[in-house]
Amino acid sequence: MATTDAVGAPPAVKSDLEAKKASAQQQIDPYNVAGEVDEQGNIKAIDYDRLIQEFGVQPLSEEHLRRFETVTGKKAHRLMRRKLFFSHRDFDKILDAYEQHGTFMLYTGRGPSSGSMHLGHTVPFLFTKELQEMFDVPLVIMMTDDEKYLYTRNKNEGHQKAGVAPEDFLDFAHENIKDILALGFDPKKTFIYTDYEYLGGHFYRNASEFESLVTFNQAAGAFGFGNSTNIGLIAYGAKQCVAAFPSSYPDLFGLKDYRGPDFPPEAKRRHKSLASIPTLIPCAIDQEPYFRILRDRCERMTDPHPKTSLILSKFLTALQGPGGKMSASDPNSAIFMSDTSSQIKNKINKHAFSGGRESLEEHRKLGGNPDVDVAFTYLSYFLEDDEELEDLAKRYRSGELLTGEMKQRCIAELQKFVTDFQERRKKVTDEVMREYMRPRKLEFGGNPSPTKPKAAANGDEGTASNGAAADGEKAAREDGRGTKGERKAAKLAEKKAQKLAQRPKDAEEGAGGT
Ligand code: TYM
Repeated sequence: MATTDAVGAPPAVKSDLEAKKASAQQQIDPYNVAGEVDEQGNIKAIDYDRLIQEFGVQPLSEEHLRRFETVTGKKAHRLMRRKLFFSHRDFDKILDAYEQHGTFMLYTGRGPSSGSMHLGHTVPFLFTKELQEMFDVPLVIMMTDDEKYLYTRNKNEGHQKAGVAPEDFLDFAHENIKDILALGFDPKKTFIYTDYEYLGGHFYRNASEFESLVTFNQAAGAFGFGNSTNIGLIAYGAKQCVAAFPSSYPDLFGLKDYRGPDFPPEAKRRHKSLASIPTLIPCAIDQEPYFRILRDRCERMTDPHPKTSLILSKFLTALQGPGGKMSASDPNSAIFMSDTSSQIKNKINKHAFSGGRESLEEHRKLGGNPDVDVAFTYLSYFLEDDEELEDLAKRYRSGELLTGEMKQRCIAELQKFVTDFQERRKKVTDEVMREYMRPRKLEFGGNPSPTKPKAAANGDEGTASNGAAADGEKAAREDGRGTKGERKAAKLAEKKAQKLAQRPKDAEEGAGGT
């Protein structure tokens, strides 16, 4: 875990022995992802079994996969089948809630640290998109321009350095939103926002309440903050946490801010019913410390929320090998979604760590190790065909398949994925982006035949999640929001966005076997 001065404190004076010890530990938190460093200074692969122990999360089992397939009636996504999404918290409870009450909310996010996302960032979004399609549920995507601004200022010694402004991160957020939308989310069910543009109303009141439930010591422990961390970053976590509460977004469920000027009677009761909708967060395990803090406090809110469920992935490794993750600040560690086909080819050929042997002779005789081979690892994330993947591993192990051949297969797959993505990215205009960012009532069906559709959640008079959505629908009709012109423009933009969202199947298929 992070040391208490890892983020923003001046470097502490350490003895050589201490320094050796500190540098040897595996460190995973929202601001650090690094495998253990051994005595010789070699970075080891991230030990996910140890993380399961340390974080106290549960491994995702074969039983979960079976249950998931029974509930959805569909084959689990390759990232789940291959246990790249490897652990969870209360995933079973989300499946129960869906079976019984019919719906839940999906929530994920991105910290826009630069204008282009890398291949690793697409992993939780590809998975989330599939979950949204399978379950037919609403999705919120938070772009934390504020977090990345505060973090960047914090890294600059003395916190005084000029040259970066909140607007720079808002610009990155807009670029990243276009990247995310090019992966193909359903505009009817998806709301995406940046903190600088959206935060206020219920969201902000939830954040304030949540801030009052977290002490400095607790934040320091979870994120490695120290005395010289800026106070914005210290408080930021509350926002990432309450973003998981459906009650932070009344508009999406067709409700208005019940404190607003012309709120209808009953609005407060309807708003309270949003607190009964459970949430599932798909992300990589570095974000788990936020949600550990969240889960401990869900029930302490004035309107208590069910404990948020999590499904957590491993990291797509850096090109250099399995001890770290792709990093936007090191261009040679990552494939960017803006890379050309020849850049992809060069990066894989030059930098991708190989699990092959020193010489051709040795490789043919002893075989290679696909488990540490970066080209094979990338294929395990992006190649759809299970049989082909298995065959590649088998032939690599036996020495029949050479490193160069494995790299060729990986290059072809990634070039297709990235160029298909870039084609769709061109079509995400500002107008399309703004349609997804408009706070509006989302349309989702959820489970068509829940077993307890009207069961009460949280003891709220008979208003379970679907009930809240239906309530919201009525309120939206009563509100009759927006002028005629605004509604027409919104309809047009929505149509465009829908067209775009229908194509991304190709992205997934593109990522699959050729
Ligand atoms: P950020 O921008 O660091 O990462 C965005 C998402 O990508 C995951 N991720 C990866 N997944 C696989 N392989 C990798 N190499 C890799 N690198 C990053 C992250 O776990 C994350 O899911 N504070 C957050 C933004 C955020 C958020 C959220 C993320 C706000 N709310 C809710 C997840 C869920 C951040 O800076 O993410």
